[in-house]
Amino acid sequence: MGEFIEEVERLKQAALAGLRTARDLAALEQARVNYLGSHGEFTALMKQLGALAKEQKPAAGKAVNAAKAELETALARRRGELDLQAALPKEPADFTLPGRRRPLGKLHPLTQATEDIVRSFRKIGFAVADGPEVEDEYHCFDALNTPADHPARDTQDTFYLATPATPPNLNPNLNLNPNLNLGLYAAPPAPPSPAGPLQDPAPRLLLRTHTSSVQIRVMKNQAPPVRIIVPGRVYRRDNADATHNPTFHQVEGLYVDRNVTVGDLKGTVEFVFRELMGPETRIRFRPHYFSYTEPSFEIDFSSALTRKMDKEWLEIAGCGMVHPQVFENVGYDPEVWTGWAFGFGIERIAMIRYGINDIRLFYENDARFLRQF
Ligand code: DAH
Repeated sequence: MGEFIEEVERLKQAALAGLRTARDLAALEQARVNYLGSHGEFTALMKQLGALAKEQKPAAGKAVNAAKAELETALARRRGELDLQAALPKEPADFTLPGRRRPLGKLHPLTQATEDIVRSFRKIGFAVADGPEVEDEYHCFDALNTPADHPARDTQDTFYLATPATPPNLNPNLNLNPNLNLGLYAAPPAPPSPAGPLQDPAPRLLLRTHTSSVQIRVMKNQAPPVRIIVPGRVYRRDNADATHNPTFHQVEGLYVDRNVTVGDLKGTVEFVFRELMGPETRIRFRPHYFSYTEPSFEIDFSSALTRKMDKEWLEIAGCGMVHPQVFENVGYDPEVWTGWAFGFGIERIAMIRYGINDIRLFYENDARFLRQF
């Protein structure tokens, strides 16, 4: 009996040493199999219990069970230690190294310029309206008092689609920061064009040449007064060079109410350009021609930015008082309603603000360029 218990103790000590000194998980498993596995030494000892005399069994059983519990505890502890060791880095760590930085993305300079423009106009109560980039000829030209034979169409040649016109969908691609509350105003698709001299039996689809088309969509769908701006992408049949690209971006503005004057127009333009180009900015109007406004003007501005470019005045936008024919076309009474409209290019604003000399840089997605803004 004493011998048996001694043997339990001896084997326990050997097993404990084997388990505690196992150098890795494989060695630990080997030690477990050697002692506690179904053919292990300790298991074999337990099988001998049955051969002992009846009165010896309780003490021997107790000793074996206590030893087994001890071995299992040692096994679990060593397994925990080795698991942790396996999870630790193999190479020594240098805690003095600088941390890994995640490069922060940035908004595209055109998006930044657009958001600045939108923010300025929102300060004075303008809502953002949206319309389709695939437009029909009626909204892009005819309703804006520019019929097919009008020479103004030549300067805005564009890409026509082979598909016959179905009402175009709204453009969801404004690309504005969703965190800015822009109060986005989505003009619903216009009802079929009214019968009348302007109606084209098979209106052709085209890529819009300006965001002025959205003027028509908004006015046809809401009663005056109207106070909107329309940022968006436009298309022209132009060859790309330092100042032209077949795709670019514009902001259109439209204000309709009773007794609106050129003074309102000038005051608004001045406010916004001072917000965008600095408080010293001056603006001037030069007479010009647009078929959808009368009178019409080109807007020049002057600021530290233009002087940096060795110019006192730089042309920046077109504008005018909404032509009575345009009001007729959307069903507003031109005897009651007056308004102004303007349009300008967002690329041009961004180029002047940031001193960029080639428009194509905006579209190349070269991170070295984009990182600077
Ligand atoms: N649509 C013109 C263009 O693309 C810009 C413009 C000029 C818009 C005069 C207007 C305006 O609303 O009144 O060049």
